[in-house]
This record gives sequence, C-alpha cells and structure tokens, in this order.
Amino acid sequence: MKAAVLYKPGFPLPVENVELQKPQSGEVMVKLSAAGVCHSDYHFVSGFFTPTRTPLVMGHEGAGIVTEVGENVKTVNVGDKVILSMDSMCGKCKNCTIGQPTMCLTYPRTFKMPDGTTRFKKNGTELYHMVGTFSEYTVLPEDQLVIIPQETPLDKACIIGCAVITGIGSVINRAKVKMGDTTAVFGCGGVGLNTIQGCSIAGASKIIAVDTVDSKLEKAIELGATHTINPTKVDAVQAINDLTSGGVNFAFDVVGDPKVIKTAFTSTRPGGTTVIVGIPPTDLELSIKGWDILLDRTIMGAFHGGARARHDFLWILDLYNTGRIKLDELITGYRPLDEINEAFDDLIQGKSIRTVLTF
Ligand code: CU
Repeated sequence: MKAAVLYKPGFPLPVENVELQKPQSGEVMVKLSAAGVCHSDYHFVSGFFTPTRTPLVMGHEGAGIVTEVGENVKTVNVGDKVILSMDSMCGKCKNCTIGQPTMCLTYPRTFKMPDGTTRFKKNGTELYHMVGTFSEYTVLPEDQLVIIPQETPLDKACIIGCAVITGIGSVINRAKVKMGDTTAVFGCGGVGLNTIQGCSIAGASKIIAVDTVDSKLEKAIELGATHTINPTKVDAVQAINDLTSGGVNFAFDVVGDPKVIKTAFTSTRPGGTTVIVGIPPTDLELSIKGWDILLDRTIMGAFHGGARARHDFLWILDLYNTGRIKLDELITGYRPLDEINEAFDDLIQGKSIRTVLTF
C-alpha cells in the first residue's frame, strides 16, 4: 500500500509502497477515506519544525473505516466510521484523569505505538507515525479513534481531528473565552478560521481577524470575524487598540512566527491573555518585558486545542450538523494522495484553506 514518508526535510515528499503490520493487542486498523493537509505537515517537510523521529509516515488529520481490530479491543468494531485523533492517551496518568489527555504523561508523542514498537515498515526498516493519515491504511491504539454516526460524510468530518479542534478547542477548552470578550486572531488558515468560529460560538463581542492575504480575510468574515486587519496596510497593534479601546482580552497566535507572537502579545490589554496555537520553530525562545506580564497578562499554550477527542469531536460534529459551525467552506479542494506535493504548493501560495486527500 502507498504512503507519504518523510526521510529528511525537503520537497518533494515521496509517496511510496510501504508495509503495514496487523493491529496488535488494543490496536485497530483503519482504511483512510479522507485526510486533511495541515500547515504543520508542511512545517515538518520544510524543516521549520523538526520531527523527533524519521523516517515518518506523514499526516495527522483524517477519517476512515475500521477494517480490523486486534485482541482486547473493547470499544471499536469492524465497519465503524471514525475520526482519528493525534493524542495517544493512557487514561490513567494524572493528566489524563484530570481531563488533559493531550498532555498524557505515559505516551508523550513518541511517534511509536504505546508498546514502543512500530507498525509501518519499508524493506525491514521501521517507519514511525503519529497518526499516519497520508497512507491508505494506518494502525492506531483504539483510544485514538472516535466513532461517529454512519451517515457522517468522512470527506468533511476528517478535518475535525486537527484544524477544527485545534482552533475551536483553543478558545473553548484552553482560553475559555466568555460572552462579551474581545478577541483577535492572527493567521487565518485552517486552524485560524476555526479559532474565529470558536470565538463566535463563545459569544466574543469583537473578533478581529489579522492576515496578510486579503482572500483569507474575506473567508474570516464568512466564518464569523467582525473586523479584519491586513498588517501590510495598517499597523495591527494600533488598529486593534482603536477597535477595542486599549487592546483585546484574548489574542490568538495561529502562525507560530516569533514576530506574530510578539504582535499578538502587544495587542492584549492589561489583564489580557495571549494564546499560542501555531507551531513555533523548534528552538524559538521568546522575549517579553517582565513589566508587561506583571500587569496581569497571561501567555498560554494551546496544544491541539486541549482536545478530549471522544467528547469534543462529537459536540463539534453536532454543531456542524445543526448549522452552527461551517466545515464545507473550509475545504477548498480534493486531491489524490499522489498529489500531496501539489497540495502543499496550494497551501503555501495561499490558494487553499484545506486540501483534503482522498483515497
Ligand atoms: Cu494539524
């Protein structure tokens, strides 16, 4: 079967034949139906962010159908439709038990199966994977699978696993934006637009979208932004100050660029919170004036939207099914797995929000 495998940073990302072993105890095999191409996949291939292990079967956002279950699997059956989550969780450690499974202490992003081995191989060499959605099939621990109703369209639901939960979850689970708060969202790609949707369902009074690409700002309005700023035309901090009489309650960095993080921080009012959602470069160190922090400001990380996958993916799906959030508008095109590099091109040229690979 075919999969996109990263050996070392650099384009093009090869799509090649690999082997996949059967699911072991507690594991499940899924046939992928659809997989979203995320900016963080691009970051891995470009070398902006260095994955801890290679060779790596790429892709972390996707949905599919269960084709095989290993021994001791109790919650999933063959034929189930599932959205895949990127967090392997033990369910027993301190963080899992307090409702923070993205920070599971037992399986902290090893890019291997929980038993420490791998399921993908190529000519006898082990291939690592986090979710392995850029592949015709993948094998995952059962708790990375969220069963969804059979009538769910997988080519839409697939983006819930990363883009949607990372954006909406950062607002609802992490920042806990309240009715009437003012917000600014820096970066209006797949995750940023979902951060905007999150601010909208939270009842934020102002949702200020900031991006250098005008077409993305138009999309931001479609998804709930109340104001837009293009920082190539106006001073973003000044404009946000003017709109909010002194800065926002919450500024979301959905880019991961050090300058953007600084700008987001500077646009918060005293007492405000900066939420880091985008992936920063591997070795980035931030410098912020102590006095500015002392004025009751907070800088908060929001990894994967604080997802509690089996709870959050389903209420997000309910919001979609009842017209309260949009997914179709976020998907700008479909391509076969073989066109993964073209999908990256579309993304980086600002031509696409989300390209979904179909199998
Ligand atoms: Cu992602």
